[in-house]
Amino acid sequence: MKVLLIGSGGREHALAWKIAQSPKLTALYAAPGNPGIAEEAAIVALDVDNQQAVVDFCRRTAIDFVVVGPEAPLVAGLADTLRAAGIAVFGPSAAAAQLEGSKGFTKDLCAKYGIPTGAYKRFTEAEPAKAYVREQGAPIVIKADGLAAGKGVTVAMTLDEALAAVDECFAGAFGSAGAEVVVEAYLDGEEASFFCLCDGKNVLPLASAQDHKRVGDGDTGPNTGGMGAYSPAPVMTAEMVERTMKEIIEPTMRGMAESGYPFTGVFFAGLMITKNGPELIEYNVRFGDPECQVLMMRMKSDLLPLLYAAATGTLGEMSVDWRDEAALTVVMASRGYPGAYEKNTPITALPDESATTKVFHAGTAIRDDQLVATGGRVLNVTAMGDSVSSAKDAAYTVLRGVSWENGFYRRDIGWRAVARETA
Ligand code: AMP
Ligand code: GLY
Repeated sequence: MKVLLIGSGGREHALAWKIAQSPKLTALYAAPGNPGIAEEAAIVALDVDNQQAVVDFCRRTAIDFVVVGPEAPLVAGLADTLRAAGIAVFGPSAAAAQLEGSKGFTKDLCAKYGIPTGAYKRFTEAEPAKAYVREQGAPIVIKADGLAAGKGVTVAMTLDEALAAVDECFAGAFGSAGAEVVVEAYLDGEEASFFCLCDGKNVLPLASAQDHKRVGDGDTGPNTGGMGAYSPAPVMTAEMVERTMKEIIEPTMRGMAESGYPFTGVFFAGLMITKNGPELIEYNVRFGDPECQVLMMRMKSDLLPLLYAAATGTLGEMSVDWRDEAALTVVMASRGYPGAYEKNTPITALPDESATTKVFHAGTAIRDDQLVATGGRVLNVTAMGDSVSSAKDAAYTVLRGVSWENGFYRRDIGWRAVARETA
């Protein structure tokens, strides 16, 4: 099978690395790619925002299957365009991608199907939103409706903070994503992400993971795309997995199909495990980044047939095997991230890798034969171990082999799981 992979992050490097191991693969292409992905795939100069150019490339190169990593091209309808051209594609339609692209859409679906999530209201003007916030009191959560690169959410611990967040959204801080605002009840508990494949009808549960969204140790500072992750998340016990499938995932996928938007691809539920059990925070219609990196390390099965089955309606015949070990990844980011940072800073050494350790590239490039950091999140240092604690120790040991002066990282990735394991 000839495969084209779309994307250029750590998530796509992990996907490329795993797809490249498939006996079913005959050739792997990637766009835009990065130097890590280039070790696994032929990088093609292709403007992935130009959907017709992607179709033309697939025809010219006789691509059998396209795997789309990030959400933006999915929300823009790349999967629809490819499917209309008769090309098999892993990823949801634009209509199904609303599950991530519109928080209001997802909340309405939850209300209709009785899916546990925080009580909410949608607003298109500031004054009624503020009146509702005052009525509900703090803590309370203010969300821009659309895609805001993970930055459109304010978990307000005080009323003033909440009112300011409403004003900020309507003042255009998140562009058109903030034209509508969702005000949501605050959920208290431990977070986990739960990943599944779906082919429109059948759901295949994958695994759980936990991300670390805040930039600083102890979960402090502003939100980022994710500073590290581990899998499995111990808070997702067998009982919580069963309840999540029955109370959240299955009704959602049924609701999507019944509403005329059958979901195909991978998605993950961002969950809060509260004292009442799992409640939905949000859905994402793709693999998480950096959660994908730890999932790919742990997956024993061949990934490619699983993705293809999700794309072609045959997931009911598939199963998936995992290694018993835990995996943990530490993100190395450019100093200043998630704010402004310097670009093209040199990375002068990378560590050796083994069967249980791997450095996935995100925002890197080669300039004048030198590996440089070009993005906010740059490297994902990943390791496996018998427990999250030992995976953590292994990852931080590998990380010492990276020489990059402008890089920084959190020192406490995995702390919740480590605290459980050492309790
Ligand atoms: P989201 O962009 O929806 O993933 O939200 C970003 C983060 O805000 C989540 O990972 C949670 O940590 C937090 N968050 C979102 N909604 C809620 C909620 N209703 N209650 C508490 N925390 C929330
Ligand atoms: N790491 C969170 C995300 O990919 O949405």
